[in-house]
Amino acid sequence: MSAIVEIRGVEKRFGAIRALGPVNLSLQPGERLGLIGPNGSGKTTLINCLSGLFAANAGTIVFEGRDITQEPAHVRARMGIARSFQIPRPFTGMSVIENLLVPMDYLPIEAGAREGRAMEILSSVGLAGRRDAPAEALSQLELRKLELARALVIEPKVLVADEAMAGLSEGEINDVLALLMRLNERGVAIIMIEHIMHAVMRFSQRVVCLETGRIIAEGLPQAVAQDKHVQKVYFGERAGR
Ligand SMILES: Nc1ncnc2c1ncn2[C@@H]1O[C@H](COP(=O)(O)OP(=O)(O)OP(=O)(O)O)[C@@H](O)[C@H]1O
Ligand SMILES: [Mg+2]
Repeated sequence: MSAIVEIRGVEKRFGAIRALGPVNLSLQPGERLGLIGPNGSGKTTLINCLSGLFAANAGTIVFEGRDITQEPAHVRARMGIARSFQIPRPFTGMSVIENLLVPMDYLPIEAGAREGRAMEILSSVGLAGRRDAPAEALSQLELRKLELARALVIEPKVLVADEAMAGLSEGEINDVLALLMRLNERGVAIIMIEHIMHAVMRFSQRVVCLETGRIIAEGLPQAVAQDKHVQKVYFGERAGR
């Protein structure tokens, strides 16, 4: 099968600091990939380069065989690359459903089909009953779900969930895990960026570990978890968490 995403030699610098790269990474259609690494290792930066929020300083990004390196974020989103943000950023002063309807203004969805589409997405994340709640009234779990729902508006082929479980209880983590699994069963390739190790290990078919902007290990979850270098930089540092 040919990759849906190919990241080739991508680098990102902030001034004199190279935060990322060079990184080579591919994602298969429908794959579940875990992206781990200590704080500041470049996980979010890599995803910012993939989604187009950051322009990479070097390298190429290919989506479905097409070079998208020069494409802006909104074009990449329309092509099917979605991401949720580490810190949820709902539109405040709006209801849950309005948070999905507003971005639809920028998408080729017929006006009459929008509410139905928004409700489908809310149902898929378990927020249908909260459609008219103000975004400010949501619990931490509901905010995380709304953040994912917002990413689903574009009907993505690739979804990056950047720490979608941070701050949640064990039960809530399972809830979000199940939600991501259901999305994946519908064919969406998912990159899970996560510090909650048992969740990444359960979810992922393959795990990639970054350290100081470079991939230090890649493979089956158990093999990466047992990798000496990974244990040293990651588990060692975070022991007890
Ligand atoms: N906009 C920015 N300007 C300057 N430096 C940045 C910027 N974004 C990220 N960095 C730096 O790039 C490096 C990688 O950061 P990044 O946020 O990608 O790490 P991360 O792996 O997502 O960490 P965390 O697990 O804490 O979310 C860090 O040294 C960070 O300080
Ligand atoms: Mg991050």
